[in-house]
Amino acid sequence: MNVLILGSGGREHTLAWKIRQSPLCDQLFIAPGNAGTALVGSNVDLKLLDFQSLADFALQNNIDCIIVGPEEPLVMGIEDFFRDYPEIFVLGPSQQGALLEGSKDFAKAFMADYNIPTAAYKTFVTGEHQEAVEFLNTLPPPYVLKADGLAAGKGVLICASLEEASSEIQAMLSGKFGKASSKVVIEHFLKGIEFSVFALTDGKDWVLLPEAKDYKRVGVGDTGPNTGGMGAVSPVPFADETVMQKVIERIVKPTIKGLHEKQIRYNGFVFFGLIMVNGDPFVIEYNCRMGDPETEVVIPRIEGDLLELILAVRHNKLNEIKVPQSKLNACTVMLCSGGYPDSYEKGFEMNIPAEPENTLFFHAGTSKKNDSIVTNGGRVLAVTTLSTDLQQGLENSKHWAEQIQFEGKYFRKDIGFDL
Ligand code: AMP
Ligand code: GLY
Repeated sequence: MNVLILGSGGREHTLAWKIRQSPLCDQLFIAPGNAGTALVGSNVDLKLLDFQSLADFALQNNIDCIIVGPEEPLVMGIEDFFRDYPEIFVLGPSQQGALLEGSKDFAKAFMADYNIPTAAYKTFVTGEHQEAVEFLNTLPPPYVLKADGLAAGKGVLICASLEEASSEIQAMLSGKFGKASSKVVIEHFLKGIEFSVFALTDGKDWVLLPEAKDYKRVGVGDTGPNTGGMGAVSPVPFADETVMQKVIERIVKPTIKGLHEKQIRYNGFVFFGLIMVNGDPFVIEYNCRMGDPETEVVIPRIEGDLLELILAVRHNKLNEIKVPQSKLNACTVMLCSGGYPDSYEKGFEMNIPAEPENTLFFHAGTSKKNDSIVTNGGRVLAVTTLSTDLQQGLENSKHWAEQIQFEGKYFRKDIGFDL
């Protein structure tokens, strides 16, 4: 099989690394990829939202399967576009399915329809500022405001005071995030510990992948601004059998049932962003793709052939498949460019040692320049280690994070501090 992976982050390097190991994989392309994906496949310079160019490339290169890494092409309807090319299988939901991530209001209404536990909410549109403030007045602080549409991961605001929330809701409804915030979901604040569960589905059957916990804040002890993700671990110690049974019965099963009943075409990953409140799981958000850096801990713990699993999605055979999980602890620490998540410089030469045993270096923002590898993004490289002991694994990841050199490098030293 020839496979094309779309994206350029640590998630895509991890997927490419895993797919490359499949005996079913002939040629592997990554668009646009990074310096790491170039080590396991061929990078191609294609624009992810130019579906026609992707189709032309796919036809010329006899691509059988396209794996979509990021959400944007999915929300823009790449799967629907490729319905005209039935010989090419797109792993990713239809545009309607991608609304689980692309529209917070859609996701909340979907959860309400299927009694899936989530924070109570109300949606407001441009012009309803007054009504929104009245609703805020009925809630205790802090206040959670969510732009309905995609806002590059910045569309969720947690406001400490009513004053701040009232002024933010006005700004949002007046276009703070462009069209994405012409509709805003206001929801109850939930207090608890977050983690993520991943399923692969064909819209009817599903398999669970290893769960993960990521660390989004830039600073020690989960403080400071949000980032794309500074690190992750899998498995999650508190996600024991009792918790996972609740997640499956109350969240995973009704979600897939809902997709099926509403006849929403969905061949792909479902990312359940969850929070445990007094022992019960609630959905914070859905994503219609894998997470980054969650992928860097989830995929290395999947034993067996990922391409075989993807073929089972294509041929509706997921009910015949088991996904064995490694018992090892995967710990990822993300190396970042100085200044990130604010502005930062790129183009610094990197010094990357050979991968030691049980350690994987997944490139994120890197590129090749002549014979060297240079930084090319805010999140630069993920160090993943696999070990029998979680604390040892966290130490190992930090140790190898120290060994990789580039100007301005920094990373969080306390990934997993709360486990
Ligand atoms: P999202 O972009 O939906 O993942 O939201 C970003 C972050 O905001 C989440 O990871 C949570 O930490 C926080 N968050 C979102 N919704 C809520 C909520 N209802 N209660 C508490 N925290 C929330
Ligand atoms: N790490 C969070 C995400 O991928 O959305």
